[in-house]
Amino acid sequence: MRQVELPIYPVVYPTGHRLNQNESQFPLPDRIKNQLDSLTYHDLHEYPVEPINELFERYAAYAGVTPEQLLVGCGSDEMIHVVTQALLAPHDIVLSPAPDFSMYPIFTTIAHGHHVQAVDLSYEGMVKAIETHHPKLLLLSNPNNPTGKLWTIEELTHLASLVPYIVVDEAYMDFTPDASMIPFIATLPNLIVLRTMSKAFGLANVRIGFMVTNCELAHYFRQFIPPFNISGVSAKICNIFLKDATYLQETIEWHDEMRQKWAQAFKAIGHVIPATTNFLYVELEQPEAVWAHLTDLNVHTSKQPTGIRVTIGDEAALHLAHTAIQQYMETSHVKNS
Ligand SMILES: Cc1ncc(COP(=O)(O)O)c(C=O)c1O
Repeated sequence: MRQVELPIYPVVYPTGHRLNQNESQFPLPDRIKNQLDSLTYHDLHEYPVEPINELFERYAAYAGVTPEQLLVGCGSDEMIHVVTQALLAPHDIVLSPAPDFSMYPIFTTIAHGHHVQAVDLSYEGMVKAIETHHPKLLLLSNPNNPTGKLWTIEELTHLASLVPYIVVDEAYMDFTPDASMIPFIATLPNLIVLRTMSKAFGLANVRIGFMVTNCELAHYFRQFIPPFNISGVSAKICNIFLKDATYLQETIEWHDEMRQKWAQAFKAIGHVIPATTNFLYVELEQPEAVWAHLTDLNVHTSKQPTGIRVTIGDEAALHLAHTAIQQYMETSHVKNS
């Protein structure tokens, strides 16, 4: 057996108020519900073909690329898995900023690579870390999970010129599509972009994610994916959402309003980092204690070194979290940062 110490996810997950997984709570419009209700399942005995062909066409049109530039998988998690498996030789170095998505070190280790992090989330920090570690692959989320920071196109273009490969994980980019690196795939031959239906599209349960890159890299990565790796049922569901003319805009606007409202509320108890995502990072004096207090109340948030990351959407849970933090701070005399 390999000597690895990776986190083991629970067999049975805790229930409660989940403000820790960045799931969408946008209420589905009736027209979408009706289409979902009319889905037919008479083809469950067959491996999926038509719905996946349609998904490739629809997502390619949405992303402004050709179907040959896409790979699809069980969430963008599977795409991170494929990228690391396909690119890394044992001990190759993968560099991410700090903080960034928790799955990057895990998938790097599974792929026999070595994951290192820059000292912070700055562009200068990344350049310095590249000079020190000579990574084969830069793996970063944009917007950044957990802070919501957006890297600029100029910064990413320059970072791409310093390494053999760069993966820009755009899980939350549907909220601000103008900042996407997808238009630069044509000019940056080492650029791989990851996307998902889990966040702005609100389909975490269908488990569909994409890799978007140039045709040559897509062809290479396709070797690392088995046939029929996603469900046709999931593909059919995604197709309904992708063909709706206004759904995405509606959910973006709903999230914008929610985020503004809750950023305002959380400002009274901590520093809120500006974001365009479906979560907020609230900087707190005692993040660990506040997080534990909320967990005791069955409100799950994401514990971070300088604060907590809170998913924006479930108003009842957000009220509960907000009040609980306020009370906690009053009783323990904690000052805001
Ligand atoms: C930055 C980032 N990348 C990838 C994922 C994985 O998403 P999924 O596998 O649902 O597509 C997440 C989920 O939270 C995320 O925050």
